[in-house]
Amino acid sequence: MEKDIKRVLLGEEEIKTIVKNLAEQIDRDYQGKKLVMVGLLKGSVVFLADLMRAVKTKCSIDFMVTSSYGTGTESSGRLNILKDLSAPIDGCDVLVVEDIIDSGVTLSFILDYLKAKNANSVKLCTLLNKPDRRKKPVPVDYTGAVIPDDFVVGYGLDYAEYYRNLPYIGILKPEIYSD
Ligand code: IMP
Ligand code: MG
Repeated sequence: MEKDIKRVLLGEEEIKTIVKNLAEQIDRDYQGKKLVMVGLLKGSVVFLADLMRAVKTKCSIDFMVTSSYGTGTESSGRLNILKDLSAPIDGCDVLVVEDIIDSGVTLSFILDYLKAKNANSVKLCTLLNKPDRRKKPVPVDYTGAVIPDDFVVGYGLDYAEYYRNLPYIGILKPEIYSD
């Protein structure tokens, strides 16, 4: 697995620091609120697992699944909800937790969908932001790191469902997805 990585972009210690800083901001902003962290499966699962343990605010979690890239590296633009929230979010302060925002297609759809419900607030926390590739504007409330336009894997992020278990974020060698 490691031989497929061109370069480490964010190491384990850097990710820990990022997660700690995000959790501190979230704790400041969500005092006395009814926080629900909504993770988008599967990419956000590692980040959410670390973030929720770094956050000290009482919270619940939920998950959504949308149709994704399949095995490619470009967003198709088509999106379906394959798994919806398991509980109502009326009056809740929803924080969507995402691994990466690339074209913004997924998140602009999800945010519109959640904002149409009766939540008290809907905000977005992403570990990684690739602004160079944005097709749809997405308001990001909490950003872990802004990264260049490279295809990255690890810490939950996949290529064709693999590499999610790398403990760091690495740039995948282009020959892996071009052959
Ligand atoms: P968007 O709709 O183009 O913003 O795509 C968001 C989703 O695409 C993310 O949640 C990831 O699952 C996937 N994605 C985008 N860029 C990458 C990447 O560099 N590596 C792995 N997955 C990515
Ligand atoms: Mg994802």
